[in-house]
Amino acid sequence: MTVAVTGAAGYIGSHVAHLLAETGVHVLAVDDMSSGVGSRIDAFPLVELDLARDEAPGVLRAAFAQHQVQAVVHLAARKAVGESVEQPTRYYHQNVAGLANLLTAMQSSGVDRLVFSSSAAAYGMPDVDVVDEAMACAPINPYGETKLVGEWLVRAAARATGLRAVSLRYFNVAGTGRPELADTSVANLVPILLARVAEGLPAAVFGDDYPTPDGTCVRDYVHVADLADAHVAALGYLEQDDRPYDVLNVGTGHGASVLDVVASLSRALGHPVPTVVEPRRAGDPPRLVASVERISEVLGWRAARDLDDICASVVPARA
Ligand code: WQD
Repeated sequence: MTVAVTGAAGYIGSHVAHLLAETGVHVLAVDDMSSGVGSRIDAFPLVELDLARDEAPGVLRAAFAQHQVQAVVHLAARKAVGESVEQPTRYYHQNVAGLANLLTAMQSSGVDRLVFSSSAAAYGMPDVDVVDEAMACAPINPYGETKLVGEWLVRAAARATGLRAVSLRYFNVAGTGRPELADTSVANLVPILLARVAEGLPAAVFGDDYPTPDGTCVRDYVHVADLADAHVAALGYLEQDDRPYDVLNVGTGHGASVLDVVASLSRALGHPVPTVVEPRRAGDPPRLVASVERISEVLGWRAARDLDDICASVVPARA
C-alpha cells in the first residue's frame, strides 16, 4: 500500500511517515519545503508542492496515479497561532484552500481514505476538566478556525462522496521518536525550555495565578511517537468498510502544568531548571486536557508514553 503524507518533512509528519514505512507501507512525501527539513524525508519520493496553488489538484492526480496512492495523511498546514492572527487570509488560503485542492484530487483519483490533522485549538477556551469531541467548538484564533473549517470540509466531502475520513485533534505534541526528526522550531513549551537552558536563561512561566493547582496553565502533552501510532491506527480503521466520518482527540487524558513540565525536564537533564514568572500570555486557556475515551473505543489507541518519556526523549543522553 502507498500512503501520501502531506507535510512529511515537518516534525510530526516525518514521525508519521517513518512509522508508516516501518509497518511496510510505501510513503509518498508531499511538502512545499517552506518549513520542512529535507533530511527527514531522504528515504521517500517527494512531490514538492504548495497544495494551495491552482495547479495542485492536477499535480497531485498525476502523482497519485504514478505512485498508486490509496490513502492520504494530511498534515501540511501553517500552524503558528500568533501569525494566524496577523495573516488570517494567508492561513485560510493555505489551510482551507490547500485542503480543498487535496480533496478535489483525491475524489478525481478515486483515493478514498483520509486522516486529517486537526487541533485542540478547535475547542478554544473550554471551561471543563476534560474536553470531549461532542463539545461545542469555539476557536479563538484564525489558526483554530481553519482547523475547525477543515474538519467541516472533510465531513461534508465524506457525506457527499463516500470518502472515509478521520480528523485527529492533536493536543500538545512534544518529544521525539528519533533524534534526526526532532522539532527544530522553537515555538512550543518543551523546545522553548530546552533553548532557554542552552542559553543559560531561566524558564519563563507565563502566569502563575491561574485557577489551577499550582497556578500555571495545564495542558495535555502527548508524545509524538504515540501520535504517530494513532495515525497508523486510524489508517487501519479506515481500511474497514462502512466507517462513518469521525473526530477523535489525541492526548493522554492527563494534565500537566507548566511547572510539572519544568520539573520533568529537570529530571531528564539531571539538574534543576530555574524559573521566572512573566505576565500571562493572551488567549491561554487555564486548562486544556483531552478526553481519550472516544479514540480508545474507536481505534483501540491509548498513549503509551508519559511526560517523563517526552522530556527524556529530547535530552541527549548524558555522559
Ligand atoms: C504551553 C503552555 C503557555 C512557553 C499551542 C497552540 C495550539 C497547538 C499547540 C498547533 C502554555 C506556557 C509557553 C513559555 C510558558 N498548535 N508557556 N512559557 O499554547 O498550549 O498550544 O501549540 O498546532 O493550537 O495554541 O502550547 O507550547 O505554546 O504553551 O509558560 O516560554 O506553556 O503559556 O500554558 P499551547 P505552548
